[in-house]
Amino acid sequence: MFFLLVSTTLVTLACMATAAVVPQPSGFGMMQYSGRSGAFTSHPGYLSYYYASGLKNRYVVTVPTGSFAQMTVDPTNRNYFAIRPYDFVVMFDGNLAGKLAVPCDVNSYTALGPSGVAYLSVTMAKTDTIRTFTSQSNVIVADFCVNSYSSGAVDPAMLGWQAFWASLASSPTNPQPAQTTAPVTTIPVTQAPASAKTCGKPSPKPSDIPNKLKIVNGVQVPDGAQPWACALVQTNGKAQFCDCTVIDKQWVVTAGHCVAESNEATMKANDKIYMGVTNLNKAVAPQNIFSISRVILHPQYDPDTTDFDVAMIKLATPIPAFSSTLMPACLPTAPITATAVKTGAFGRRICYVTGWGTLAAGERGNANIGSGSDLLLQAAIEMFNTTACKTYLSPYTFSNNMLCGGYDAGQFDSCQGDSGGPLVCDAGDGTWTLNGIVSWGLGCAEAKKPGVYSNVYALLPFITSTMAQN
Ligand SMILES: *[C@@H]1O[C@H](CO)[C@@H](O)[C@H](O)[C@H]1NC(C)=O
Repeated sequence: MFFLLVSTTLVTLACMATAAVVPQPSGFGMMQYSGRSGAFTSHPGYLSYYYASGLKNRYVVTVPTGSFAQMTVDPTNRNYFAIRPYDFVVMFDGNLAGKLAVPCDVNSYTALGPSGVAYLSVTMAKTDTIRTFTSQSNVIVADFCVNSYSSGAVDPAMLGWQAFWASLASSPTNPQPAQTTAPVTTIPVTQAPASAKTCGKPSPKPSDIPNKLKIVNGVQVPDGAQPWACALVQTNGKAQFCDCTVIDKQWVVTAGHCVAESNEATMKANDKIYMGVTNLNKAVAPQNIFSISRVILHPQYDPDTTDFDVAMIKLATPIPAFSSTLMPACLPTAPITATAVKTGAFGRRICYVTGWGTLAAGERGNANIGSGSDLLLQAAIEMFNTTACKTYLSPYTFSNNMLCGGYDAGQFDSCQGDSGGPLVCDAGDGTWTLNGIVSWGLGCAEAKKPGVYSNVYALLPFITSTMAQN
């Protein structure tokens, strides 16, 4: 069913889950080593420039036939260990490489088998431990993966990470103890200090804006308060049909249902992304209007339940420079319930939803570009707990990939035209994070009918691996 709806790109993505036919991602490098023992240092050039965003490099070590390959990544040697917060190395048996759909996909290594047995990963979180992995064959592989949204600075004193390999004469009977946490899913957790982040620093803050009037009853957003908000605009007729959020120089995220009935080729030809303005009529090319190069829908998006309602759109040209009016939102590093900087009734976390959308249920725009308003509007909402969401939204499916929020008495909500737009929360560390994507609701701003948002934290594996691979 999914296959009928979407572009060949998406079909390829969906197929990769089941078939082994895999296009090699660009930027994939291969380094081969062989011998009884030796060492290598990561990607040459490290000293003089940052690792390229999205870099994937594979180091293949082959030891003599009949022996078993063992590799050690030493993170205790500060001279050699320089894996940045979002980057990781995964070691695994080279004979299993064919089971990997895509190198550096944070989800795909689990297909090799259990962590610690079939593969072992090294991230910043493991800086104090020397990690050794033994292959069940004479080939061992280390994939080095750099996530594209990380631009954290490299410590110039570091020379890159170093690995050593050796050949063992006898079969490894007892492989590594399993890692207690699934290593590759810990990647999005940033350890960069907030002050070093280049995302999520609006001025004024969304929380500085008084909460009154109209998204439904939202208030107009001043320039700079939601500098990541973007709009999907059909060029022919200049009609905004969905909203989105800038999360990287070249990527915006939107709701899956915003793209599910179109396809990449159609969207590339007909649609543009407007950003860096609060009034859509003030958008000027090239600084505010961007073309599309990729449209990638979550392969598990379900049009019946609206589960996995997320899609990534790549800009044809990167945003040249961020500014106070055009800046990415940070991605969350914890579930939405983990932090509550500002709370409402029942201790609910207060977050902010933004859009150019419809002002009331059923209302459509007129001559404006925005489907309801040309001005960006915002409303503060309370995030409900799962029990309340399930109760209020019954009998509809409320999955782990969803969040819900609003007010018990109704009044404030997002509405149809806001689909795909940002729900941001104060992370409490000086940055704002994209915790939700406007997804669906039962009417607009009705009492006990909360709006539903895609749960960005739950969907991070798709978001980060899409950026790393495309
Ligand atoms: C969930 O929120 C409701 C109010 O909407 C509250 O009555 C209930 O105690 C909360 N449950 C938990 C487990 O916090």
